[in-house]
Amino acid sequence: MEIKKIEFKGFRNLFDFSFTPDSNINILMGANAQGKTNITEAIWLFTGAKSFRGAKDREMVGFGKEKAELKMNFLSQGIERDAKIEILNKRKAFLDEKPLKSASHLAGNFCAIVFSPGDLGLVKDGPNVRRRFLDVAIGQLYPVYIELLKDYTRAVAQRNKIIKDYKNNSSISEMLDIFEAEIAEKGAKIVEYRKKYCKKTEPSTAEIYKGISKEKEKLEFSYVSSVEAEYLAEALYNARKTDMFSGVTSVGPHRDDLDFKINGISARSFGSQGQKRSIALSLKLAEAKTIEDIKGEQPVAILDDVMSELDPERQDYILNHIKDRQVFITCCDYSNIKNFEKGTVFNIEAGRIK
Ligand SMILES: Nc1ncnc2c1ncn2[C@@H]1O[C@H](COP(=O)(O)OP(=O)(O)OP(=O)(O)O)[C@@H](O)[C@H]1O
Ligand SMILES: [Mg+2]
Repeated sequence: MEIKKIEFKGFRNLFDFSFTPDSNINILMGANAQGKTNITEAIWLFTGAKSFRGAKDREMVGFGKEKAELKMNFLSQGIERDAKIEILNKRKAFLDEKPLKSASHLAGNFCAIVFSPGDLGLVKDGPNVRRRFLDVAIGQLYPVYIELLKDYTRAVAQRNKIIKDYKNNSSISEMLDIFEAEIAEKGAKIVEYRKKYCKKTEPSTAEIYKGISKEKEKLEFSYVSSVEAEYLAEALYNARKTDMFSGVTSVGPHRDDLDFKINGISARSFGSQGQKRSIALSLKLAEAKTIEDIKGEQPVAILDDVMSELDPERQDYILNHIKDRQVFITCCDYSNIKNFEKGTVFNIEAGRIK
């Protein structure tokens, strides 16, 4: 996967300009608030996923602008492709001039991985962060998963809405039956995808972690279901009474989690900060490896502001593992990039490349 050219128009603080990146390492260098992350955020949107900063679509349109437009020319499996994203209130996407049903339909065409400071909390933060990690990774590999997740989320939202009135209206019970059947059916498929992804990616994650820990530590991770998929329908039915009070659906894959063990001991409970960061880093590098194995092509790698958060050994580890592909690294300080000689440095200043 290689970006040949990217064009920005009305996007955040960026000037309207186009940019021809290096086919290998691109270092986006500049002081704070100049637009480095904005550039990587724009690139990431071509994976079909939402902003990795959690921004709403509208927030990415430049202040005072009516809309933003991004264009990308990239090589995938040796074939040149053109993608375009328009952002008004929502993202709209085009691939080779054809409009797509939704921007998420870009998924699977352009593949990238992003590692940003938020990802360093993958182990320490709440389970929603880990589920989102899985969902984004799986969505790029299997775009049908994105639709599945949307249907599932909608069914859970419907159940939440009606469960609040359940007390007052027993005829609602039939509607609950319908939504619970859908939650159970879609939920079982989601769990299947997630478990399959974990199984596929665990060996490389463990291998990478072993390398980072200098062969001293063994990492294992597993998918933890709030309830086994085959019992989900029953569990939903049984949870109606308790869910009535909380107004939320207490079981299902939207409550699942990942569990990490280092040398057999829970990393969340007992791991050091550094160990937790190393797990996050391993998961991200393994994500790239999994995409490569399945798609037969290396994804573009984006490292937003993480180099300064890691010690020199881990910085070196990353650089050794992501070389020989297209990489975008944002950086404020030359001292963090002294180890790469191969890349091109682009100086970002006030929303443009100087
Ligand atoms: N919708 C928008 N329209 C115009 N400007 C925006 C918009 N959203 C964000 N900005 C501005 O873009 C600027 C650059 O943001 P960005 O996050 O890319 O900086 P950065 O170079 O990555 O900085 P840092 O080194 O601090 O991470 C910020 O000053 C922010 O106020
Ligand atoms: Mg930034």
